[in-house]
Amino acid sequence: MTLDNIDFGQLYRTHMAAAGGREKPPEEWDARAEAMSRIVSASGYVDDFIARMDLSGCTTLLDVGCGTGAIALALAPRLPRVYGLDYSRGMLDAMMRNARALGRDNVAPIRRAWEDDWSDVPACDIVTASRSTTVMDMADALAKLDAKAKKRVYLTSLVGGRFVDGEVAELLGCTRPALPDYIYIVNILYRMGRHPRLDYIENENRLAGTEDFDEFARKVAFSLGEIDDAGRTRLRQWYDTDPGRAQRGGAPFRWAFIHWETTR
Ligand SMILES: C[S@@+](CC[C@H](N)C(=O)[O-])C[C@H]1O[C@@H](n2cnc3c(N)ncnc32)[C@H](O)[C@@H]1O
Repeated sequence: MTLDNIDFGQLYRTHMAAAGGREKPPEEWDARAEAMSRIVSASGYVDDFIARMDLSGCTTLLDVGCGTGAIALALAPRLPRVYGLDYSRGMLDAMMRNARALGRDNVAPIRRAWEDDWSDVPACDIVTASRSTTVMDMADALAKLDAKAKKRVYLTSLVGGRFVDGEVAELLGCTRPALPDYIYIVNILYRMGRHPRLDYIENENRLAGTEDFDEFARKVAFSLGEIDDAGRTRLRQWYDTDPGRAQRGGAPFRWAFIHWETTR
């Protein structure tokens, strides 16, 4: 057996199924749009992402899974045309509200899912996918990003594949394996004949900065599913025991920052 015998796209799909990965309906993201606008603007992650990009010779951007516009809006002052693609209407509406508040008229929304047909999605110089690569079929997603980028692609993927601190997950009896992470992406790109470059960005995790326990429990449930009474009691104990740790939401996230050139 050598690496050449391994179909990393298939391996990713098998791992995703074993980890219980599921496609979330867009409505689940709609409900988070307002809160996400606030969190994103307070984070250093966006600066870290953008500082690693090369915009030279570029005029257009396609930001996939754009959410409320963290990356798209930060780049809008530097590029004449910016598209934000997302399947959540709530996210796109929030991005356009944010664009208007910033006085930007060069931002356009595209309501589309990763899994949809992208044949009418405009090809752009740069394509980004920031914190939005939890897909069921990574080989298909990477092929789409690659096909729409005239020059370069930039994406992030969570190292370790856990959106919730391992200790918190364990408290709720969650023994599912972690989601497949960035290392599949590197291997799939290699097979596509690309030369991915790799870096890392560390930032606060999804459970950080909650105002009270109820908000914390809601965020945990978004990632792990419904919490029963016994689980809620254990979670409350974890939350109250160490207020600093509760504010951080446990261990920070480490994002793999992966980019490649598409010019042939
Ligand atoms: C964690 S947010 C990231 C938002 C933004 N890129 C950022 O870095 O702040 C993930 C985004 O991906 C979108 N998303 C999730 N699944 C999707 C799918 N199947 N197709 C299109 N967008 C999806 C969600 O609506 C959400 O806006």
